[in-house]
Amino acid sequence: MTHKGQVEELQAQALAEIEKAGSAADLEQLRVQYLGRKGRLTQILRSLKNLPPEVRREVGQQANAAKEALEAALSQALTTLKEEALRAAAAREIDVTLPGRRRALGHIHPLTRIMNEICDIFQRLGFEAVEGPEVELDWYNFEALNIPPDHPARDMQDTFYFNDKVLLRTHTSPMQIRVMEKRRPPVRIIAPGKVYRRDSDMTHSPMFHQVEGLLVDRGVTFADLKGVLTEFVQQLYGPEVSLRFRPSYFPFTEPSAEIDIACVICRGLGCRVCSATGWLEVLGAGMVHPNVFEAVGYDPEEYTGFAFGLGVERFAMLKYGIDDIRLFFENDLRFLKQF
Ligand code: PHE
Repeated sequence: MTHKGQVEELQAQALAEIEKAGSAADLEQLRVQYLGRKGRLTQILRSLKNLPPEVRREVGQQANAAKEALEAALSQALTTLKEEALRAAAAREIDVTLPGRRRALGHIHPLTRIMNEICDIFQRLGFEAVEGPEVELDWYNFEALNIPPDHPARDMQDTFYFNDKVLLRTHTSPMQIRVMEKRRPPVRIIAPGKVYRRDSDMTHSPMFHQVEGLLVDRGVTFADLKGVLTEFVQQLYGPEVSLRFRPSYFPFTEPSAEIDIACVICRGLGCRVCSATGWLEVLGAGMVHPNVFEAVGYDPEEYTGFAFGLGVERFAMLKYGIDDIRLFFENDLRFLKQF
């Protein structure tokens, strides 16, 4: 083999070994082996003087270039090994046996929860849940519900108006009209949703929630209303809770009633929550007024029905013993976390 070929082969072999080296000690060993005082490349450089001048120059240049290449490869390999060692040490700093930081789990808002409970009960009784717009027309919110133009509920003080005809619904009763306009009896629906009134204190919020109920068919009586509402209240608050139906007035029902339940706080003995009466008003209800049937094209001689409406916040306040309605809307986690 020529001297030139020898240098080439040596360089290639050395580079391959440097690449495979796994530690600084391996690299030092390779340095000694090739570039040390008795190293293989050193020996070639030393023996140059024995060569004829015409090859000496060429092989000498080549051997020096090989020496530089090996030195560079060794120092590069050493740097790489050090970096790898640092990375491995940093990785060991993470103690994988430590417990992780737990992310707090959110949960359902107490109002949504009670709303779901209320809807579940009525759905089991055969009512279908429907939803409708919060921005409503005067026709649905008042006119079709037999609420005359001079009724106090239409007052600017109570209703949020956009203009003469458009407003924020003040109750979920417009859903009675929207459903009856589209369907023929039998109708059996509940309509949960937000409603708005210009009112704000411990027990009133300008936005709150209602669940409306409507059942229309041939031969529906007040006894059906009584049965459904009694079943509902007792499923929600317990079978021992009694109900009281008081005569009342709503323009869209006749006869109308307000329904009280025995105070769930004092069990009817009289306390602060029930103002010492032992009773809590929880529902408005009645038999659908013939004028309402006329407004949607139902024959009041053929059909009868009942409707009711309840305030969700009031149910939730009673169920959880909350005395300020505003707590539901402040999103204070110290309050919400209790549910
Ligand atoms: N809409 C009435 C209210 O908001 C409640 C109600 C609904 C009364 C249906 C009778 C029948 O006070």
